[in-house]
Amino acid sequence: MNKYNVGIIGYGWAATAHIEAINKTTQGQVTAIYSSRKLDDAELSAKHGGQIKSYQSIDAMLSDPSIHVVDITSYPSQHRDQAIAAANAKKHIILEKPMANSLQEVREITAAAKSNGVQGCVCFECRFSNQFTVTKALIDEGLLGSLHYGEVDYYHGIGPWYGQFRWNTGKKDGGSALLTAGCHALDALLMMMGSEVESVSSFSTRSSSEIFKPYEYDTSSTTIIRFKNGAVGKSAAIVDCLQPYYFHTHLCGSQGSLLDDKFHSMKLHTDKHAWSKLSMKMLDSGDVSDHPYQSQFQAFFDALDAGKPMPLTSFEESQKSFEVIFAADKSAEQGGRPVKISELA
Ligand SMILES: NC(=O)c1ccc[n+]([C@@H]2O[C@H](COP(=O)([O-])OP(=O)(O)OC[C@H]3O[C@@H](n4cnc5c(N)ncnc54)[C@H](O)[C@@H]3O)[C@@H](O)[C@H]2O)c1
Repeated sequence: MNKYNVGIIGYGWAATAHIEAINKTTQGQVTAIYSSRKLDDAELSAKHGGQIKSYQSIDAMLSDPSIHVVDITSYPSQHRDQAIAAANAKKHIILEKPMANSLQEVREITAAAKSNGVQGCVCFECRFSNQFTVTKALIDEGLLGSLHYGEVDYYHGIGPWYGQFRWNTGKKDGGSALLTAGCHALDALLMMMGSEVESVSSFSTRSSSEIFKPYEYDTSSTTIIRFKNGAVGKSAAIVDCLQPYYFHTHLCGSQGSLLDDKFHSMKLHTDKHAWSKLSMKMLDSGDVSDHPYQSQFQAFFDALDAGKPMPLTSFEESQKSFEVIFAADKSAEQGGRPVKISELA
């Protein structure tokens, strides 16, 4: 088993959850943090454990040979340049979502990692959540039969009460309702449906509430997806709602259905007129400290040990989700015109 020293880029909200999760894995240890702010090494080390060296130059941190993995938690508009620099420095990469806010940049990141022979892991950590690992196991056991319809939706009002709001409202870093947050739900839908996407049609709008006025882009969108295997699906990304956080899942197949943590299966002969309950930890909070980063980072270090690509959230796999997202945003810009994935330039 190897030991992986990790250097973090950006020291904000996501970074603090990442540091704790990385240090709880069996192989990972955060040893460096880059921030534009001057940080105190003794304070950082006391707060997070271990010996942490702070840097105000990314190049200096990347040229430290003791660092094996770079974890990028900066603003989305910085992800491309930082990920490419990390790949060129031969560091493996953990990259927060969105990978980047344009398809071109996402492709450049994936290509840079490939050409440098380093592995990538995108923070689509919901794929490692108890909710979606159990739901996927239920599907894989055939309890729902073959899925012909699925919807996974993201409802989370990202207003001034949320730290990200200060930069999330701008198009440059926020991007779109899907890029900034709804991507988690769309990505989970793709994982559950298990088929490549043929085309999407998307529509967007925004709340008339004054609270969300600073946003430079539509903060609600709904995307209809046609899968290559003939199934259809829907994913809503609603970041201007006023309600509790809700990650909604509804899947329908030839043997039964699943609604969040409830299901009915003909295979089990459960009563079709009442839902049966699954006991699992639900994704019910936008708080990063509740997110399943630890399981995801553990899987990344295990994959590095085995010399294999990251399961479920490699750059290649996550790029496919972003291709669907960029196609959806293109469709919404064009009033819902169906956009084929194959027509993305
Ligand atoms: N996977 C998830 O569920 C999830 C959740 C939250 C955020 N994120 C992602 O993580 C990334 C960072 O988001 P965040 O919520 O940590 O945002 P944040 O505002 O806390 O931090 C964003 C950036 O701002 C910097 N920053 C924060 N305070 C600063 C200050 N006072 N002076 C100078 N720089 C400062 C941070 O170092 C970081 O580079 C984004 O890509 C975001 O989309 C992902």
